[in-house]
Amino acid sequence: MSNMKQEILKLLKNDRFVSGQEMADRLEVSRTAIWKNINALKSEGYSIESVTNKGYHLTEPPRYISPTALELLVAQSSLFSHMEYLQTTGSTQVEALQKLEHHGGAYIVVAEEQTSGRGRFNREWSSPKNRGLYLSIVLRPNIPISEIIRFNLFISLAISKSIDQAFSMESGIKWPNDIYINNRKVSGFLTEVVSESSVINAIICGIGINIFEDERIGAIPNATSIEREMDAGRHMDLDGFMEKLINNIEHYYHRFINEPFSEIREEWKARAIVFNKELRITEAGESYMAKALDIDDDGFLEVLDQSGEIRKVISADIEL
Ligand code: BTN
Repeated sequence: MSNMKQEILKLLKNDRFVSGQEMADRLEVSRTAIWKNINALKSEGYSIESVTNKGYHLTEPPRYISPTALELLVAQSSLFSHMEYLQTTGSTQVEALQKLEHHGGAYIVVAEEQTSGRGRFNREWSSPKNRGLYLSIVLRPNIPISEIIRFNLFISLAISKSIDQAFSMESGIKWPNDIYINNRKVSGFLTEVVSESSVINAIICGIGINIFEDERIGAIPNATSIEREMDAGRHMDLDGFMEKLINNIEHYYHRFINEPFSEIREEWKARAIVFNKELRITEAGESYMAKALDIDDDGFLEVLDQSGEIRKVISADIEL
């Protein structure tokens, strides 16, 4: 059974003791095979306790996401059909692009570390090993390229909501592509498109989330991490976070395909942190101060500049 590790993890995640014999019976394999796979899970970082006469028990998930847990999530997903887990890479965006011809459906590329991680406007995205989550999701909607602004609104909601659900936090969306906690950036995403005759062939959306404190992330002005913002003593469950993230991406992607932005507008606005404050907006080389008034159904931000003119902003760099 090639996914025996996944099956064992599923049994252990039921939150009870399960004996080696029960696992062997259920999966129709030997107890030695169970033991070997338990050890493999341990080397992925799972703390698995073995108690005489009771069996095995999962005491803690790993400190970092495990490939087995991700494979399991993808196997259960109604959207994603494939997952690639890399220990190191230049950028998951590049890897995801290179794999377009190999995989027909939607897929995910995750890396423990990126040596040339990049953000919007070609800025560097600091990606030290096992300190953050670095992933690219590939989706293949058959829609006009003009819809991509709307996509960003749906996906920002999925990321922000997942952070809040998994870590009991209150994150906000800094239009268009950032997630903030307590006025600092914890996550950013980058949406790139492969298109033909103005129709989208593939969306490659790269998501970076600062998870653990790290001197490189700490050195970035206005950046924060989940660890810094999390209540002391709370356990970091990245498996749990990935589950929420994948579920929310599925949910909001489905809605993106089937519904107008107006359906999630109020939910989005409740999370937006750009309203009621002076913003510095830099767009196409021009920089000006303005106040955000609203967001329209196409995803354009309506702002009032200092000369009293209302402008519609499509994709700008915004400083709070
Ligand atoms: C931004 O805030 O400017 C967007 C940051 C996006 C970073 C992610 S990390 C995974 C993926 N691979 C990359 O090289 N970039 C994105």
